[in-house]
Amino acid sequence: MASTQGAHNILVASNRGPVTYEVQEDGSLRAKRGGGGLVSGLSAIGPDAGALWVCSALGDGDREAVRRGIAEDGVRMLDIDADVHADAYNGIANSVLWFVHHMLYQTPLEPVFDAEFRRQWASYEAYNRAFAEALAAEAAPGAVVIVQDYHLTLVPGMLRELRPDLRIGHFSHTPWAPVDYFRMLPDDIAEQVLRGMLGADRLGFLTQRWADAFTTCCDALVGGLGDTRIGVHGLGADADFLRRRSHEADVADRMATLREQIGEGRRTIVRVDRTELSKNIVRGLLAYRQLLEDHPEWRERVVHVAFAYPSRQDLAVYRDYTAEVQRVATEINDRYGTPDWTPVVLHVKDDFARSLAAYRLADVALVNPIRDGMNLVAKEVPVVSDEGCVLVLSREAGAYEELGEDAVVVNPYDVVGTARALDAALTMPVGERAERTKRLAAAGTALPPAQWFLEQLRELEG
Ligand code: F6P
Repeated sequence: MASTQGAHNILVASNRGPVTYEVQEDGSLRAKRGGGGLVSGLSAIGPDAGALWVCSALGDGDREAVRRGIAEDGVRMLDIDADVHADAYNGIANSVLWFVHHMLYQTPLEPVFDAEFRRQWASYEAYNRAFAEALAAEAAPGAVVIVQDYHLTLVPGMLRELRPDLRIGHFSHTPWAPVDYFRMLPDDIAEQVLRGMLGADRLGFLTQRWADAFTTCCDALVGGLGDTRIGVHGLGADADFLRRRSHEADVADRMATLREQIGEGRRTIVRVDRTELSKNIVRGLLAYRQLLEDHPEWRERVVHVAFAYPSRQDLAVYRDYTAEVQRVATEINDRYGTPDWTPVVLHVKDDFARSLAAYRLADVALVNPIRDGMNLVAKEVPVVSDEGCVLVLSREAGAYEELGEDAVVVNPYDVVGTARALDAALTMPVGERAERTKRLAAAGTALPPAQWFLEQLRELEG
């Protein structure tokens, strides 16, 4: 089916866009610009390149903006029916596909692919179709379209049918599940996901490991990759931005407050995450408790600064996890704390300036996900750290491929092993720590966001 053609030469599609709108008390709308790799990546091609970012309207403010015809230059928000969006985003993307790729299911209760799942899947198809149709309508002849992530796996195939002239890419920001885990999905659904993605000319992954897992799934379930090419682009931290932003006044203010909470002369173990099951925050806290048990000499001499910012709170499983993080942190403070020492300083309100302040102060950064596409915190802390910082890093994070040699590496399930790693990190000689930090910062910024995006664009254009 042919559709009318638009004027944009470069299009990006993602669930969450670069801007959100908040309804103010007087009924007006306030636009809030987001950060992240894609935003800086796309800004690198300049405003005149005819680029368009297609995304979902996510809250009341966004929907209101669409209704009032308010839009930022270069952004088109899709006002998809709220129930359809909830089924696709909460039901399928974050409860099923996220759980498959991060291997989070827990037998005997999960997974159950019942009639409710099938109903939600129909919404996921409708949601993907809305994106495909919008992209088809907006793209100029021969335009390049780069679709993002597990929310939109069906878009490349749907778009290919609508607009065979386009050059279509898809980029996965998550890990890809091993074939034996991926095939837990009902056969027809697993096939639909793979064939949907294979509608693209080129698929991008964050590491070779995830790219290989995808290829293995295709070999086993749909007879191979066909004509689709695969590429690896290990998104790095934005050094220029981080160095500049981390020296602004609000960060200095947050550092002063944190210093007071930590106390004079104490070492600091920092973690910063969205509160989300794959991040493994609870085992991180248990490892810290184990450190205090096995090494009483650290009591009163170290503080664990943990920032765990709630995410996806419409889903009970994420809410329960948030509560569990808070419960374990409180339990550690009750058990070990003294009038002068709070062992765990936990903050749950998202504050980017405070995160940067913690990065600057960190002696040790704990990044211990069960599985993670990349984990940019692991790449950001060494860039920002004032005095050098030891990275304790899960071997299951994508960042391990680039940073593994200079990190203290852990098996994320091994609480005792992680406690040992924390002790090794805290006792690492200052010279070695500084050398490692330098190498980590260089490796972690090797492919800044702008270059990461341009690389993919060039591959598709070529
Ligand atoms: O890791 C995958 C990803 O889509 C990231 O690109 C992003 O940071 C995160 O998940 C956001 O999740 P959400 O939009 O559900 O808050």
